[in-house]
Amino acid sequence: MMTAHIKDKTLLQANNVSLRYGDNIILRDINFCIKDIIRPDMQQGQVISLIGRSGIGKTQLFKILSGLQQPTGGSVTIHDGQTVRAGDMGVIFQNYYLFEWRTVYQSLMLAAQKNNALKGNEAAMIEHYAKAFHLEAELKKYPQQLSGGQRQRASIIQQLLKGSDFLLLDEPFSGLDVCVLDNVTDLLLQVSVSDELKTLIIVSHDITTSVAISDTVLIMGNEAGKPGATIKKEIDLVERDLAWKKDIKKEKAFIDTVEEIKACL
Ligand SMILES: Nc1ncnc2c1ncn2[C@@H]1O[C@H](COP(=O)(O)OP(=O)(O)OP(=O)(O)O)[C@@H](O)[C@H]1O
Ligand SMILES: [Mg+2]
Repeated sequence: MMTAHIKDKTLLQANNVSLRYGDNIILRDINFCIKDIIRPDMQQGQVISLIGRSGIGKTQLFKILSGLQQPTGGSVTIHDGQTVRAGDMGVIFQNYYLFEWRTVYQSLMLAAQKNNALKGNEAAMIEHYAKAFHLEAELKKYPQQLSGGQRQRASIIQQLLKGSDFLLLDEPFSGLDVCVLDNVTDLLLQVSVSDELKTLIIVSHDITTSVAISDTVLIMGNEAGKPGATIKKEIDLVERDLAWKKDIKKEKAFIDTVEEIKACL
């Protein structure tokens, strides 16, 4: 039985987005729409997986969605239709950008101070996230003193503290050991229900992990006879009754969906 929900207003829309470098067409005809999911008696954000093989153009689309790169054609709009600008989104890059000359704590404090909703609670929130992400011992360190996984978690916390409705993550599960992977997955789920409008867009090679926490899957790929990548398929996991469930990875319908996605790549 499908979980009761409605899809309400549009939060983000990609309108005929295309990207080319000279004659090289990277993206074309990218159209999709993310709507606010409303569940009775529950605060439910949105989690979208963007999946595609290496080199297909995920990171390029990611940059366009984040407002950091202009598409050659088309547009990305958020909320009431305004074009997305750099700074509208919390962005977590593949290489976990941090200020190298600041300690983790200083970087996090700076992010927290940008968020008016946290006023007066900045230090408490940093402590809360540091605990949840197992990063308490690292707060006094500089980024170059961190492991890759620690950098990633610091980067996620930094963007969470900023408080944007949209959180874009490029390969958030790569390079994590199994324990930390479960932690990061749980935390992203927690974030996704922390606010009605919170919208996570996850770019990942790890189909099983990202699909397991998503409500929607966008599959990027090429279509025969046409240059450039587009959204080949959109899967509504709520309709399939595969969203918002614990231990979904073991269900046959879930495994079948993962196979369906792989076949589409
Ligand atoms: N500045 C650029 N000029 C020309 N081509 C570029 C430029 N940046 C990226 N590309 C090309 O765009 C294509 C898509 O790259 P992108 O980084 O988006 O792939 P991806 O899907 O994120 O791959 P991965 O999964 O390996 O991270 C690649 O073929 C790449 O060579
Ligand atoms: Mg990439």
